[in-house]
Amino acid sequence: MATQNKKLLTWVDDMAALCEPDNIVWCDGSDAEWETMWDIMVKSGTARKLNEDKRPNSYHVNSIPADVARVEDRTYICSEKEEDAGPTNNWADPTEMRKTLNTMFSGCMKGRTMYVIPFSMGPIGSDIAQIGVEISDSPYVVTNMHIMARVGNAVLDVLGADGDFVPCLHSVGVPLAAGDKDAPWPCNPDNRYIVHYPETREIWSFGSGYGGNALLGKKCFALRIASTMARDEGWMAEHMLILKLTNPEGVVKYVAGAFPSACGKTNLAMLTPTIPGWEVETVGDDIAWMKFGADGQLYAINPEAGFFGVAPGTGMATNANAMLSMEANAIFTNVAETDDGDVWWESMTKEAPAHLIDWKGNDWTPASEKPSSHPNARFTARAGQCPVIADEWEDPKGVPISAILFGGRRASVVPLATEALDWNHGTFLGTIIASEMTAAAFGAIGKLRRDPMAMLPFCGYNMADYWGHWLDMGKTEGAKMPKVYYVNWFRKNEAGKFMWPGFGENSRVLKWVFERCTGTADAIETAIGNMPTLDGIDFNGLDMSDEDIANLMRVDTEGWLSELQGIEEYYDTFGDHLPAELRAQVQALRERLESTQQAVA
Ligand code: OXD
Ligand code: MN
Repeated sequence: MATQNKKLLTWVDDMAALCEPDNIVWCDGSDAEWETMWDIMVKSGTARKLNEDKRPNSYHVNSIPADVARVEDRTYICSEKEEDAGPTNNWADPTEMRKTLNTMFSGCMKGRTMYVIPFSMGPIGSDIAQIGVEISDSPYVVTNMHIMARVGNAVLDVLGADGDFVPCLHSVGVPLAAGDKDAPWPCNPDNRYIVHYPETREIWSFGSGYGGNALLGKKCFALRIASTMARDEGWMAEHMLILKLTNPEGVVKYVAGAFPSACGKTNLAMLTPTIPGWEVETVGDDIAWMKFGADGQLYAINPEAGFFGVAPGTGMATNANAMLSMEANAIFTNVAETDDGDVWWESMTKEAPAHLIDWKGNDWTPASEKPSSHPNARFTARAGQCPVIADEWEDPKGVPISAILFGGRRASVVPLATEALDWNHGTFLGTIIASEMTAAAFGAIGKLRRDPMAMLPFCGYNMADYWGHWLDMGKTEGAKMPKVYYVNWFRKNEAGKFMWPGFGENSRVLKWVFERCTGTADAIETAIGNMPTLDGIDFNGLDMSDEDIANLMRVDTEGWLSELQGIEEYYDTFGDHLPAELRAQVQALRERLESTQQAVA
């Protein structure tokens, strides 16, 4: 091993004594290691190599139906005090949890190899980056970490003899006795624990091999633990894409955007603009870490090195740049396999192939009743392979953020685009992000799932204290905070049809945001914030009725007034952790709406 770091060596020794693996391998992130891991997984029946002519150096893995997604109900924030986890997180007493986990992890790697994966979240050596080390008994985790983070000896060099790191312990939770044959997807679904200790900055994950449960650099570290680090150290760890926007004159602005899972963040981060002369490039598609620069602006890095995107729904028509990112050196999980050794999933192409092997290993044809791929099937692709990756995506100093977008899925009330009056109002808009549940998924149509700042499952501490941190950031001496926007791509008309075409057409809204940042676009001050003038957003060439356009740009005073009640009830659940400023924002909004109502009457 290439480290003298005492904390690391002691931790690895302690975890090996606890988990009792047969071997310990220190990972170096090399191509040879990638090959070795896949050799192991192909031999054990876990993975299949895809047709080298179709998709070079790429692999297909299927999990089992019991282990296909993040498990929010098994995800814990074990702070010393319950109120520090807050009402939106599962809390468990850390002393009790440590006892439970010591029992679960005891001997859990018998018959397996323990991989030690040093990784950097963010460009190695960046002031904004952080180091983690994941211990895992899953070669699938090793290969995914190769893509999603920077892995290897360069990380150990930065760590040095006494640098600090976040220890991330992971086990699939299935020890093997001598002679036992391993399952293709070992996991322990009845005993899953995704545990965070925010005070000691540790992650312990047991029983799942999938995605955010197992790739601990992503949601566990880069959001839950990093959000607590950011609070303590005066920076921000956010569930945000980062994009670079260039106007026809070559002027550049960087925009971050928080949208709940499954609202099209990856598509927005890589969109192909429909308006001539504008360019969108990608810095990140899921997570942003932002720190103040000397000039008082927030500078953002993408802590990840790859995309772990939802495959179904992604195709050349909806996100060509994502498709091109995964043409080689990629991993596909829970998708279908074609007869010529490639992968396929719903909406990848307009027409489905005549025959597939579905994600459960069964024959599939277009006449089959069930989809060929799991709805949360994923591709793991290297960010550097994205054709529109911005040159500065690995710039250690980050990119200066001019605007932050917030958005959810709202069929009603929320217009296409609103600009916050100032940072505090922008923070308020972030706290009220919500998505309407659809009839297809849940019973109560129109019921809102609140997902403040898109951080509901990812905030590592009390959500209301996190809002307080947002407000405090704006009070920092010399701070030049980004402008904040609330956007809604999902508004529906009375016929139940989406009014806004979305995808590449979202560039029209980005253009208005850009021009507000450069001071070249007008806005109308309304009760809910600054809204585009009617010609502020270019609707030319869109197949939209005048009525839909008017509705998308209208302030629904009654709708907002009734919205306020739900917001206040939600705020009440946080007791005295709720910052007084947010109550003041609700009150001020109510007064502005009521005075509009009177003016109209
Ligand atoms: C994700 C998520 O996987 O937000 O990025 O769930
Ligand atoms: Mn996400």
